[in-house]
Amino acid sequence: MYRYGCFALTGVCFILLLTVILLSLKRERLQPFDHCFDPGNALSLLAHPAVFCFLVGSQAYHCYQQCAKGWLPYGKSCYFLSTLRLSWADSQKNCSSGGGSLAVISSRGVQHFLTRTGNLTYWIGLRKNTTEWNWVNNTQLQQNYWSGSTIRSNCAYLSSEAPEEKNWETASCHALNYFICQLEL
Ligand SMILES: *[C@@H]1O[C@H](CO)[C@@H](O)[C@H](O)[C@H]1NC(C)=O
Ligand SMILES: *[C@@H]1O[C@H](CO)[C@@H](O)[C@H](O)[C@H]1NC(C)=O
Ligand SMILES: *[C@@H]1O[C@H](CO)[C@@H](O)[C@H](O)[C@H]1NC(C)=O
Ligand SMILES: *[C@@H]1O[C@H](CO)[C@@H](O)[C@H](O)[C@H]1NC(C)=O
Repeated sequence: MYRYGCFALTGVCFILLLTVILLSLKRERLQPFDHCFDPGNALSLLAHPAVFCFLVGSQAYHCYQQCAKGWLPYGKSCYFLSTLRLSWADSQKNCSSGGGSLAVISSRGVQHFLTRTGNLTYWIGLRKNTTEWNWVNNTQLQQNYWSGSTIRSNCAYLSSEAPEEKNWETASCHALNYFICQLEL
């Protein structure tokens, strides 16, 4: 009889374990951040706005990478579509005050995601320095989605209403616009 009881309880344990595993898999985009198990390391990482750490026991921290509330995960970054209009420079300031920058669109996938997600026109991290268009992280512009001429103004925005192959426009950097922030995980 004890043996059957033991089997039954073992079975219950497995079912509970499976439930825990399934539930943790269901948590969206929760990725373990391995070197956080060292508490010394975790403390410095606590400053990263997309890393969340929990004290486990009295010594160890357990940390996860996850986009903060209101930020959207895509690839290895989190994106924030503003609900506020600012100049290009103030937009960049707003993004960097949260540890990020204006969005750098470096793939077709990101271009598609941001176009599909937004409803408005948004500054992106692309600006002209008299001659050349440069991304805010200093990479040179390669793949682009301009809708027309780029000679008139020096800052670039994405227009979500326009087709995604041709929806970048230029405007005066002083103009007020919504903007997209990016935070790399
Ligand atoms: C940045 O923008 C967000 C919303 O888009 C706003 O809530 C926040 O106050 C802004 N921060 C600064 C420093 O302008
Ligand atoms: C600039 O940002 C893009 C998109 O996040 C990234 O793929 C690229 O590696 C970055 N370049 C540099 C020099 O940081
Ligand atoms: C786009 O518009 C819809 C409907 O007005 C709204 O629910 C949604 O939040 C908007 N999306 C963004 C990113 O602002
Ligand atoms: C503009 O950017 C290009 C490419 O990054 C660079 O080679 C050039 O020196 C810059 N020009 C000015 C005026 O800053």
